[in-house]
Amino acid sequence: MSSTQPPPEIPSANPIDPVEHDYFTLNPAPASLQKHTSLARDFITTHASAGRRVVLVTSGGTTVPLERQTVRFIDNFSAGTRGATSAEYFLEAGYAVIFLYREFSLLPYSRHYSHATNCFLDFLHEGPNGSVLAREEYTEKMLAVLRKYQAAKRDNLLLTIPFVTINDYLFILRSIAQLMRPLGPSGLLYLAAAVSDFFVPNERMVEHKIQSTDASPNIRPQGAEDRQDQGQQDDEAFDNFDSSPLIPRSKRLVIDLDPVPKFLKNLVDGWAPEGMIVSFKLETDPEILVSKARYSLERYQHHLVIGNLLVTRKWEVVFVARSEEGEGIREEWIRVPRRRKTLSKIDIEVDREGGREDGGEKGKERPLDPKDLPDYEPEIEIESLIIPAVKKLHDTYIQRNTRES
Ligand code: PMT
Repeated sequence: MSSTQPPPEIPSANPIDPVEHDYFTLNPAPASLQKHTSLARDFITTHASAGRRVVLVTSGGTTVPLERQTVRFIDNFSAGTRGATSAEYFLEAGYAVIFLYREFSLLPYSRHYSHATNCFLDFLHEGPNGSVLAREEYTEKMLAVLRKYQAAKRDNLLLTIPFVTINDYLFILRSIAQLMRPLGPSGLLYLAAAVSDFFVPNERMVEHKIQSTDASPNIRPQGAEDRQDQGQQDDEAFDNFDSSPLIPRSKRLVIDLDPVPKFLKNLVDGWAPEGMIVSFKLETDPEILVSKARYSLERYQHHLVIGNLLVTRKWEVVFVARSEEGEGIREEWIRVPRRRKTLSKIDIEVDREGGREDGGEKGKERPLDPKDLPDYEPEIEIESLIIPAVKKLHDTYIQRNTRES
């Protein structure tokens, strides 16, 4: 099919829910939606007819613009490491990968040479006759990465689609998830993106840059004008709004955000009901990670939640899924082995015993204590352990759902 044709409407498995209808009617579709949907459709069709599994990997953080002509926006920390690294291991495991990523965040393969501590140019030097060569000490690794990248491109196994805002993300996620339905259980959705929880809805967003002086009425807290009209400007200017009463309220920027609808439910029930869905849960408090991951699995009724903590996320994750027998929920920690430095040599300390043992429920593993973590990066990438484990669950999922259908 030509990539210039408009995407056909794919009927949802369930009738559209009013929240979904309102969101996708009241907020504008991104200008690139049609182009990206066409690319995704062609990609999925090609790989579905080759009987290949397709995974949608989402990666990086969504932004929340504060103005339509956006100068300022709210962002989050995610660099896209989890998503970009996972995409490489999915390719290695035989999947075709749609990589839905935050523009300018890390990309599979090039991630090895971008956002790095060393400048990319430090890997190069000038050779004879004005040529540019890789430094000898880096050649072996660069060549391996380059070959994998070129093979993925040559075999059309990697489609990259950028997003910037939460709105871009939601529109394109919905379209791609719906396009994946013909893949049935061979479709996998691996949602590693850090998606904003709050946003400014289109109807409340101002057109122009928010002014830092009170020249623009747009930034005035609601009611400020009324109070001025009533000659109460002095009261308003020095109201005791919080602990810094010397800053006039009219000089503050008070942002009123709506919650982003929880579309994971729509994804599971309507957009991609036959595919296997893996979501992530990020927390900073180790005490609530597992319970939040369990809650998410129960609430959305999908297939796997991968829990991770901000500070230990490169060292361990916890898989939370329904047990094989379908009764109850099980947790499994996946950890990268840690090295222990001794005076004379470096030992490998394999983390079979799990994390902290203090106060934990008997038989339950506990998250690692960040204080016990070394100050270097793990020797192996945790995604090299996560992806084979996800693939194994996906094998079972395909077997079970192909048998049943
Ligand atoms: O990029 P890195 O620096 O490597 O960091 C990786 C990560 C920590 C961001 C990643 O491992 C991770 O945990 N991502 C999910 C963060 C999170 O807690 O998301 P959430 O609770 O807002 O959403 C739960 C899940 O639903 C996520 O899988 C999210 O991608 C998905 N979601 C949420 C809301 C929404 N509207 N659409 C979604 O797809």
